[in-house]
Amino acid sequence: MNRRSFLAAGIATGFVGHAAADEPAPRLTRAEIPTPGLIVDLDRFEANLRTMADHCRRAGCGFRPHAKTHKCPEIARRQVASGALGVCVATVPEAEAMVAGGIRGVLLTSPVADRGKAERVAALARTEGQVMAALDSTRGADLLDAAARAISVRLDVLVDLDVGSRRTGITPGPPAVELAQHVTRYRNLRFRGLQGYAGHASHTTGFAERSRVSRESMARAVETKDLLTRAGIEVAILSGGSTGTYNIDPTIAGVTELQVGSYIFMDVEYRRIGGQSGAVYTDFQPSLMVVTTVVSATHADRVTVDAGTKAFATDVPDRPEAVGRPGVTYQRAGDEFGILRVTGDATLPRLGERIEFLVPHCDPTVNLYDRIYAVRGERVEAIWPVAARRETTR
Ligand SMILES: Cc1ncc(COP(=O)(O)O)c(C=O)c1O
Repeated sequence: MNRRSFLAAGIATGFVGHAAADEPAPRLTRAEIPTPGLIVDLDRFEANLRTMADHCRRAGCGFRPHAKTHKCPEIARRQVASGALGVCVATVPEAEAMVAGGIRGVLLTSPVADRGKAERVAALARTEGQVMAALDSTRGADLLDAAARAISVRLDVLVDLDVGSRRTGITPGPPAVELAQHVTRYRNLRFRGLQGYAGHASHTTGFAERSRVSRESMARAVETKDLLTRAGIEVAILSGGSTGTYNIDPTIAGVTELQVGSYIFMDVEYRRIGGQSGAVYTDFQPSLMVVTTVVSATHADRVTVDAGTKAFATDVPDRPEAVGRPGVTYQRAGDEFGILRVTGDATLPRLGERIEFLVPHCDPTVNLYDRIYAVRGERVEAIWPVAARRETTR
């Protein structure tokens, strides 16, 4: 076995550990990535980083990208290098992985409601400016304050508003004002502002309608901000937005930063929401793919690839899209397999052929993999561990 096939085989079997996988992958080519494998096209990924950073700079709006999309400190470092204020995270393990990866300005966008998690968040606040947490209840505030007090730190917090997503967040207006006023009384919490994530707006199809839904939702957050300001409470941050509304929310007076996530990768679901000038959302380029191999070709009308529900998240109705193979369709065929058929003049892929697919939904697909192969053309430039993949770190 030569060095190249040793590396490929080692990575495939998990024999090459995380530390080694973090190294650039010398001489491993795109064609040698074990399948099913998760790859990011670096040229497109870097273009997406630039597009978002340039847009926010021009719009005079900050951005703190959501690391729930990638769970990967290496990607977070590149986002910060592109101008981001830090990153958002959805879980405490994500926060821990980002801080361990050297990222500051980490905003935990999900509320915590138990002592163990509150203690872990407080522990990250030992360094000033490292972490901030969203909360939507007095119980959450009690827990965070107690955890922060126990280790003599002060934790920055945002009040999370339900601006229409109906998931987390307190009702905007007087209930939110009351909670914010309550938060200012804790000794070990520092109220920094508000969060309003309008998830229902991000995937609204059609730019005009998306714009309307987002403006309507964020108006409730802005109104809450104004009420607080009038009550003498400074609201330094109003965080919201998403990839679908990145060019809408910065024009809403009062929004200070965006929580954009999927823009670095994109996916089939996001592409179909439509852009300002067409039915496909092309502001950002699809950079994330799963590479597969045709492992069975025993039928005249179909072939089978080695990627099923364990290779693609299946939470959305969209199907994986074969890259550069118009007319090839994918259908799930269980945990390990997918069936490819063809329409029109397209020809069926051959046994052993490698086919790359755009993923239906990027965040939960990344969560299925331990590593991302970062490719430029035929070269694998690096292998990035999906370090925050596990939901518990202890
Ligand atoms: C709280 C929060 N903020 C921001 C985002 C980023 O959204 P997107 O990937 O649509 O940019 C998400 C995504 O689910 C989210 O849950």
